[in-house]
Parts: sequence; C-alpha cells; structure tokens
Amino acid sequence: MKTKFNANWVFFDRYTPGMEASTRRGVDVHLPHNAVDLPLGYFDETSYQRAFMYQKLINWVPEFEGREISLIFDGAMADARVFLNGEQIAAHRDGYTPFEVRLTDLLQRDTNLLAVIVDGSENPEIPPFGGQIDYLTYAGLYRDVWLYMRDAVALGAVKIDTYNVLQSTKSLSASISLDNPQNMAVDATVFVEVLDAEGATLADADVPVDDGVATVELHGFADAQLWSIRQPTLYSLRIRLDADGIEPDIKEISFGFRDAQFTKDGFFLNGEKLHLRGLNRHQSFPYVGYAMGKRAQEKDAEILKHDLHCNVVRTSHYPQSPYFLDHCDRIGLLVVEEIPGWQHIGGAAWQAESVANVERMIRRDWNHPSIIMWGVRINESEDDHAFYEATNEAARRLDPGRARGGIRCIENSELLEDVYTMNDFFHAADDAFRGNRPPAPLRTPREVTGLAEDVPYLVTEFNGHMFPTKITDSEVRQDEHVMRYLDVLNRAYGQEGISGSIGWCMFDYNTHKDFGSGDRICHHGVLDMFRIPKFASWVYRSQVDPGVEPVLKPVTYWARGEREIGGVYPLIILTNCDYVDMQFGDGAPIRVYPERERFAHLPYAPVIIGDHNAPTDQLGAWGRVWEDGVFVGYVDHVEVARVVQVANPVPQKLDIVIDSNELSAEDRDEVLVHIRALDQAGQVMPYLDDVIYLELSGPASILGPEVLPLRAGQCGFWMRASGDVGEINLTAFSQRIGVSKRSLLAM
Ligand code: GAL
Repeated sequence: MKTKFNANWVFFDRYTPGMEASTRRGVDVHLPHNAVDLPLGYFDETSYQRAFMYQKLINWVPEFEGREISLIFDGAMADARVFLNGEQIAAHRDGYTPFEVRLTDLLQRDTNLLAVIVDGSENPEIPPFGGQIDYLTYAGLYRDVWLYMRDAVALGAVKIDTYNVLQSTKSLSASISLDNPQNMAVDATVFVEVLDAEGATLADADVPVDDGVATVELHGFADAQLWSIRQPTLYSLRIRLDADGIEPDIKEISFGFRDAQFTKDGFFLNGEKLHLRGLNRHQSFPYVGYAMGKRAQEKDAEILKHDLHCNVVRTSHYPQSPYFLDHCDRIGLLVVEEIPGWQHIGGAAWQAESVANVERMIRRDWNHPSIIMWGVRINESEDDHAFYEATNEAARRLDPGRARGGIRCIENSELLEDVYTMNDFFHAADDAFRGNRPPAPLRTPREVTGLAEDVPYLVTEFNGHMFPTKITDSEVRQDEHVMRYLDVLNRAYGQEGISGSIGWCMFDYNTHKDFGSGDRICHHGVLDMFRIPKFASWVYRSQVDPGVEPVLKPVTYWARGEREIGGVYPLIILTNCDYVDMQFGDGAPIRVYPERERFAHLPYAPVIIGDHNAPTDQLGAWGRVWEDGVFVGYVDHVEVARVVQVANPVPQKLDIVIDSNELSAEDRDEVLVHIRALDQAGQVMPYLDDVIYLELSGPASILGPEVLPLRAGQCGFWMRASGDVGEINLTAFSQRIGVSKRSLLAM
C-alpha cells in the first residue's frame, strides 16, 4: 500500500553538516514544497542555490512488523541525501525522477528521525548544470513523497507493450517484475486482467513467476478501442500477485492501444497522418517554482488541449510531473519527453549520469500512451558520438517500440536517433539570418540535416527569443508576434516531410540573469506566467474545427491612436469562420474572407482587413470620429461568433474566472484564478492602471502577493486548499471598478 507522506515535515532554510542528527525547531511545512519562494521578477536566483533540510518523525507502528517499508520521493531538486537517525541511507542526484529509499531493518521500534538534505546548488557534476541554462531549477521536495508498505515479496516494475494494434485482433505483452529485496525463495503466480473503463474484463490470464519475472502475452481484443487524440481510450492492466505466506498484492496500470510512427512523410497516429501542432512547456509557476500539485499540473494540460487545441507538448527540458503526464493520457495530448540538459555536455561522470537519466525517465514513463518520443540528447548540444550512442542505446534497449529524437539546433548534426528534431529559429523577418535565402520561415529538412535522403523530421522550437513579446506590449508588436506564429505554422504545415512544429513556448517563465528582459523573465510564451493569453495564443486556438469551438479574435485593442498613424489596419482576425463581417459604427458591414492564398497550408487561415480589401477611409482618418466595431463570424452562412469593440470603453466589471467551484481539500488543490477588468462590451481593458486587492477567507491561501497590479487589464494567481473542508470566499476589489466575489467549496 502506498500512502501520501506529505504532511508534518519540518523545514530548515539553512543546513550545516551534523544538523541531520537531531530534531530542531524549524518551519512546519506540507509537501510539495518550494525551498525559497521568489518574487515575480528581479530576484536573486542564487538564493536557492544552497543546501536545505527537511525533517520528519517516523513513529514505529505495529503494521511495520515483518513488512517491507520504504519511502518514494517523486522529485527532490537537485541533489538529495536521505538520513535516518543520523545515518545516510540514500542519495539521488537527479531532480526530475523518483527514487525509493528502503527503511526495512533500519527503523527503530520507537521514534525515528528522517532527514532529507536537498542541495539546490547548480552542481556542475549533475545534468543539467555546468553551463548556462535558460530556466530555473527551484530547490525543494517539490513533488509528493509516499510511504510504501508491503510484504517481503510484492509486485515491482511493470512494462506493458502493445502490438498489431491496427489489426482486428491486437496483442499485449507485459513484463512484471517481483519486488523481492530480501531475495526470498517464493513460488508465485500472477493473475492479470485487462479491464475497460467500466471495469469489464476483456481478457485474463494466470502466469507463473519465473526467476522474479512474469511475462504475459495476451491476444485478441477485437473490440478494443484505439487510444487517439480524439478518443483517448484507456484500459488498465490489473495484476494480482499470489504467493505462499504473503497477502495478495494488487496493482493497476493504465495503458492504451495505439500506434505512433514518425516517417519521412510525416507523423502517423494509428495509421492516419497527423500534423503535430504544439508548444513547449516548462513545469514552473510564479513564486512557488516547481512545487505544484495535481490540479495545477492537470490544468496546464487542459489549457494546451482544450483552450489552445494543441495536439502535442514537449516537456522542455526534463521529465515532468507524473500528474501532468497522466492527464495527457486521459485527455489525448501527445508528449515528447526528454532528459535534463541545456546546451552543455559535462565530463565522463556527468555523461554517465545523463545516460542514467534516460533510463530513469523511460522506466518511470514507459507505459504512457501519450508519449510518442524520447528526447535522448541534451537540448541543443554539440554532437558527441560516444555519449549519444550510449543514450540511444539505453532507450533502444529499454523501450524499442518508441521513437527517439535528439533535440538540436545545429545543421548537419549526426543523426543517431529515429527523428531529426530541430529547433529552427529561422524567420523571414530576421535579417541577420536571411542572407541570400528566400524570405520564408524554417529551413527545409534537407537544408538542415545535410543528408542526401529524407528522414523523419520535427521542428521542436521556433520563435522564442527571436521575438520576445510581453502581454503588456503594444498592439503593433503583438500583431507581429501573431504574424510570426502564423508564418511558421503555415510553413510547417506546407513543407513536405515536416511532422509538425512545437513553438517556444506555452507561457513566460523565470530564468537566470543571462536570459530574459532583465527582469529574469523570458517573455516567450503565448500565455504569460499566470497562463493569461496573449494574442498569439489565438493562432493556436483558431486552428480547430468551428464545430468544436468557433473562434473570432481581432488582434486589436480597437482604438484610433494605439498604432503609428492611427487606426487598426492591417487588422488580423484569428478565426476558423468561413468569413467575417466587420461593421464600423453605422456603416455598411464589410465582408472579408480568410487569406487562403497567403496561408495556403493552415487549416484555418486568418482574415486580414486592410486597404487591399477594405479602404482605410471606411474607418476615417486621424481627426475623425472613432466608432464601435462589430465583428460577426459565419460558418455555412450562419452566425457563430460575434465580437463587439466599443469606441468609448469604460470600466464596468471585475470578472473573476475560475474553472470550477470545488476544490479537493485532501489533494490541497491549487486552482487557477484570473481577474479581468472589462468594459461595457466585455472586452479586457489593456491600459487600465489599477490595483486589485484580494481577500480570502476559509480553508485556502493565495500563492503570491494579495495586492496585484493589472497587467494588460488582467491578473492571475493560484489559490491553494489548506487541507480542511469548508467554504472559501474570495473578494477582489478595485478602486475603479468595485468589488467582485466568488465562493468555492473545499470538499
Ligand atoms: C532555445 C532553448 C530554449 C529557450 C529558447 C528561447 O534555444 O532550447 O530553452 O532558451 O531557445 O527561444
């Protein structure tokens, strides 16, 4: 049985050797925990680059008698050592993967002192450290810890593989290892069942355990559904271990039947070509760094899948929260997962650790149907034949059925993987890169690979530092930001042999002083740090069938004097509608169609209104009256979307957006809250200089400050349930607009 071991830790923000041996007075904390909360920007990132200590008492209970007891740490950043009663019993030098610490035989029959030293220093011997890195690796016990109690012999690692999934009958094999640290001689069998979501059994088998492993082969599954992005059907393998003298041990692991292939003609999911369209994601959050639980992780996956309509995410640049990946399985979001690293390759010991990172990542995550590729190179590093032979060999050995990529930014790099995965920042608008090249974003695969033949090819980053754009930037800059996303996506769709593109990146993130805008933020997201959308996010959002969601987003604040010369032309409207009518004041509506010629390859080309299709004098010139704008989007000649932008916006409403009224107290849910200052037409007021005062009562707290400036008319924060049930009342107050309230229930 695994139970959460997150409560009642004592935290020490300074550690000196010897402290681990005795209890002391520290700060009571609950995990996940961030060692040093940072301000939003302009902080000192060295403040968490030192050693911290966590202590917890483990009282002996009779249930421990004769049983195997261990702790599982899901993540400790970056270099962890575990002590029991003053003695070191374990160490783990990888901040992104779990480790198990065996306590059996070490526990005293009264109170035991557990101490975990977590060193957040950027130790150059551990990946990703040793060079510069464009992100932060916040220290702490930032994921769950579990107490794992079972009999001397129990179920261990399980790997599930599916075969022939595109045939009418499918096959599954599972390799089930025993967890038998005392090497007991046992006569064991496992009983396995394949269950559907309703719990109905599709197949079962009894298998003997031989030399500590049971191998199961099951065939048939004629009625089984495939796992796809549209219908992510999951099954579970329920395993029961039976052996003399032990309680049956039971495990359930979810998996899917799906076939994922990268070919030189593109990516195929279940035999159907699928153009990959996605974004890179860091696992970071403002103030609290990496220390966020289930709900916040799942929300990020939801945003990518349901708000931005992405079909793929890259977990740049390390293995991310299991909660995030589980949710990608559930909702049908494909994942490219990779090992920790950023440009720098260290010496032999560092490289050995990196190969171990590959193994740990794959062993943790090999049953996720959502993962379609392992990234087995250090992001954007130079070639290193021997090192990358070793990382590739590890992935091939452990999980031969899944593609390997190696994310790089150099041309003609040695292809040891299945897919040439390229960070291609070329863009027509960047003169420095243009040289004699035709004005088009992205290079062709052959130009990049230097190979004489076509190979599977995926663009794993673009944009990012080439055009940082803040949510507070002017309309003109945001317009160019939008245009670059449109250009690259269009090109990726149109370029034969490109499996897809993954933009840099989903949201703005805190970083080292060597990057960012001086504020230690890379403003590279299509969302800001609080996941508030910038205009560019609608480039993604609009690429969905209007039956799923009609999208109509004019890239404008609709004002006479925001742009040079005045007016709003050229006006990009991100939409999936067949055409859009724009009406200025009482004038006759102008009907405008998507720019299908210029954006021939995009599923949904934007509408662009300008002098070429609607003469400027329709809107009048500087010195004339500015009027309301009404945009109406049509699909099959039926109105499906309407946006009104008023000429005289005044603050009307403080809107609190939360995606549900309930929080799980037990999971200490962190729920995302957005507050928006709206005008009389419900549009955000980008230049309203105001401050929001928050007040919260009930069993929850606000992560970060309780007084927030509006940025681009909005602000955001996460609220965390404190563990008790009850009503939570949130009040937001603005001097200009007044008060808004929301009530939630922690249950
Ligand atoms: C890439 C890098 C990313 C990020 C990005 C900014 O080179 O892989 O981590 O730094 O640039 O555009």
